[in-house]
Amino acid sequence: MGKGMTYMEKGNWKTNFRFEGGKITSPRSDHGWTFIDVTDNVEFLKEILTKDIVIEEAINTYKLDDIIFDLRLYVFYDEVLHILPRTNEKNAITANISQGGQGRSTRFLKKFPKNIINKAVTSGIRTIKAMDINFAGVDVMISTDFKVYVVELNAFPGFPKVSRFNLSKRIIQLIEDRKWN
Ligand SMILES: Nc1ncnc2c1ncn2[C@@H]1O[C@H](COP(=O)(O)OP(=O)(O)O)[C@@H](O)[C@H]1O
Ligand SMILES: [Mg+2]
Repeated sequence: MGKGMTYMEKGNWKTNFRFEGGKITSPRSDHGWTFIDVTDNVEFLKEILTKDIVIEEAINTYKLDDIIFDLRLYVFYDEVLHILPRTNEKNAITANISQGGQGRSTRFLKKFPKNIINKAVTSGIRTIKAMDINFAGVDVMISTDFKVYVVELNAFPGFPKVSRFNLSKRIIQLIEDRKWN
């Protein structure tokens, strides 16, 4: 849900944890984990390095109309059933809807060359196969140089709004159609 993220580049450190009295804490609600500036705050850095964290190289998202975005792929066996593009304003750190990101329609995908979307689809399918599972929400980012990065796999993803795409219905149809041994 885009909670507990820290972004660091020279002269720009931001976190959506809270940092008071030398202690890192979490906001109460799942939503509204707003980012605070912690640039050059070495005490914060020392403290976060004592926690269980994952450190990733930052991906510069391909900038479209001054926004950042990522793609949530709903992958079922060897098919991507639905792609939910999520956007946020250009200085945002995360595109998660819980933290102010906006879900877009699949029309948004028309902004990209078809082969990039195909690459994302292939990566999504390979990701669930690598983890040996049959269904997941896979989060994919596209970089400025059009590389496709898988940033996360959710075995229990939130579902898109039914008005956008009825994912449960589609999965049930596919389960019914499958030839079970
Ligand atoms: N390496 C990265 N570089 C730039 N942005 C990232 C990176 N990893 C994640 N993000 C952004 O943060 C969001 C949340 O990260 P994600 O790994 O999906 O965790 P979760 O959704 O569980 O909080 C992503 O959807 C993306 O918008
Ligand atoms: Mg995610």
